[in-house]
Amino acid sequence: MRRVTVSVPARRYDAVVGAGVLAEVGGLLAGRRRAAVVSQPGVAAHHAGPVRDAIEGAGAATELFLMGEGEEAKVLATVEDLARGFAAWGLLRDDAVVALGGGVVGDTAGFAAACYYRGVDVVQVPTTLLAQVDSAVGGKTGVNLPEGKNLVGAFHHPLGVVADVETLASLPEREYRSGLGEVAKYALMDEEAAAGAAEILERETTRVLGRDPAVLAELVARCVATKAAVVEADPDERTGRRAVLNLGHTLAHALETAGGYDLFHGEAVAVGLVFAAELAGALERVEPATADRHREILTGLGLPVVVPGGALAAELLAVMARDKKARGGLTFVLPGSGGIERVDDPPSWAVERALRAVGVEG
Ligand SMILES: NC(=O)c1ccc[n+]([C@@H]2O[C@H](COP(=O)([O-])OP(=O)(O)OC[C@H]3O[C@@H](n4cnc5c(N)ncnc54)[C@H](O)[C@@H]3O)[C@@H](O)[C@H]2O)c1
Repeated sequence: MRRVTVSVPARRYDAVVGAGVLAEVGGLLAGRRRAAVVSQPGVAAHHAGPVRDAIEGAGAATELFLMGEGEEAKVLATVEDLARGFAAWGLLRDDAVVALGGGVVGDTAGFAAACYYRGVDVVQVPTTLLAQVDSAVGGKTGVNLPEGKNLVGAFHHPLGVVADVETLASLPEREYRSGLGEVAKYALMDEEAAAGAAEILERETTRVLGRDPAVLAELVARCVATKAAVVEADPDERTGRRAVLNLGHTLAHALETAGGYDLFHGEAVAVGLVFAAELAGALERVEPATADRHREILTGLGLPVVVPGGALAAELLAVMARDKKARGGLTFVLPGSGGIERVDDPPSWAVERALRAVGVEG
């Protein structure tokens, strides 16, 4: 079991990472009266039992609150349903919410906890690879509006995070592989901070793909430590430091927004990582071989390194120009000798060359 401490002005908490560590939730909630466990049917069927047993073993009553799947369920109506369910059950201010699921559950239940009684404690129990390495740590919670993703939200740091890599065994294969795209982002973002996560992906590819709990525990803990360091440097997303987390995401978001590409988020990030390395190479920020290494690692993990079926540059450039992080023109987050940095308005020949390298023409 590994423990990564996250220290932000609002709170100091631990992310516990390991195989078979779900019972740690009990210790976090010892002394509480009630804990509302929020999950989805497909997750709860596998994992709610042990979580509720651990909490009840620590003396708190539990109730399971199920929400729907996907981005359509990450909405204010779900927050209202949850809050009304909490109230009907008698959840009070000193009680707690437990978010058991992927990023959709974590963001929605986290936001419900941030609002209910003007804030009750939440424990994040992430059960997807993306949620374990990314969304459960950092305190960002929120829901979507028809006008855009994550438009309503709050910073609400958890009481603790319990990332049990054994829960990943029940994830559908494509969901799991997609999560590896986000793992690769952390591993390649800051190889020193990620303490060899990239080498684990290279050396232990078979065990990673086989979801070996020992290797996963090591990998997830290193990614969490990398995320924790970024969050600590910019707890409220004010200094721009958190922008490094968007490595590979400018193109990924464009592919997701433009639609029609049949890519999961982590798959789009994988293509975006190669694009970012190619663009950084064209701008002589990194060695040209960097993009090849990224391609090799991502391909080994079964992730795409070009847009399947190709894409049209004009469409993606238009979407990227509208990216909310862009302040006019085009903004990218790119590797370089000084680390990951925001780069504004690179020359269009370089952008077009990098796009061509990931199968985007025209
Ligand atoms: N708060 C943040 O900082 C942050 C960061 C990154 C992403 N996000 C958000 O995370 C969301 C995406 O999260 P995600 O990729 O985890 O997707 P998700 O939560 O939709 O989960 C994917 C699918 O896997 C199922 N599932 C989850 N765990 C399972 C398990 N162990 N076994 C079987 N099935 C399981 C879910 O029910 C769902 O159908 C997006 O809404 C995104 O905006 C938030």
